[in-house]
Amino acid sequence: MDETGRPTEDQHCGDHFTQKYFKAMSDSDDDVPQLSAATLAALQEFYAEERDGLVPNSEPEDKFSVGAVEEDWRMSQFWYNDATATRLAEEVIQEAGKGGRIVCLSAPSVYQKLKQGVVEGSGGVSAVVLEYDRRFATYGQEFIFYDYNEPLSLPEDVAPQSFDIVLADPPYLSEECLTKVAQTVRYLAKGKILLCTGAIMEEHAEKLLGLKICHYIPKHNKNLANEFRCFTNYPSSLLA
Ligand SMILES: C[S@@+](CC[C@H](N)C(=O)[O-])C[C@H]1O[C@@H](n2cnc3c(N)ncnc32)[C@H](O)[C@@H]1O
Repeated sequence: MDETGRPTEDQHCGDHFTQKYFKAMSDSDDDVPQLSAATLAALQEFYAEERDGLVPNSEPEDKFSVGAVEEDWRMSQFWYNDATATRLAEEVIQEAGKGGRIVCLSAPSVYQKLKQGVVEGSGGVSAVVLEYDRRFATYGQEFIFYDYNEPLSLPEDVAPQSFDIVLADPPYLSEECLTKVAQTVRYLAKGKILLCTGAIMEEHAEKLLGLKICHYIPKHNKNLANEFRCFTNYPSSLLA
């Protein structure tokens, strides 16, 4: 705040209180605003408390929202849009069944959607995210570091065939990458596999994991040059 009691430029951004304040000021055209001593004191107190973290944010940041971690193209990160993340979360919840265990392998958006508490049934399943990007370690024990170059280098407590469904979205559209990811998928899966990748990987998906292409087309927040599809090894009611 400057000496006239005017909030400074940086305080203006995204602050509901300040926006209302500015609106009140602009309503009375160019006149220098006249604030009573009591109003000015209240405003100063508000900013002091906000600075000290005493004022709760009216829109708390949702650490599980898709996009809470920004895409980094150097790690081939392309997040699903909200509708796709929701649709895939619904699919894995249905296929895992009540009490089921879900692993999202290089697919953090679906993990986030499962944890957001907005998809029906998400409270009845458990989920972990296998990811190369350590920013997702913010999710604690449900984050497991994973590098597809070392497909079976997993913590000891990740037991073989211990997940009711494995959802995977490998970082690269290459046979080499899918071959290694397929090794991990086979290790983790009790049976059901849902793969999201480029349509050009169809032949490899069938050969490596016995997957069939679905009609459903996953969409991303940014348009990708490659056509993406889902592939499953089970008859999928949502995706078929
Ligand atoms: C094409 S994106 C899939 C993300 C998915 N569309 C989503 O919205 O959750 C590929 C993912 O692979 C991860 N990744 C990058 N390098 C990796 C590596 N060496 N091993 C395993 N995963 C990797 C990225 O961090 C990213 O989450």
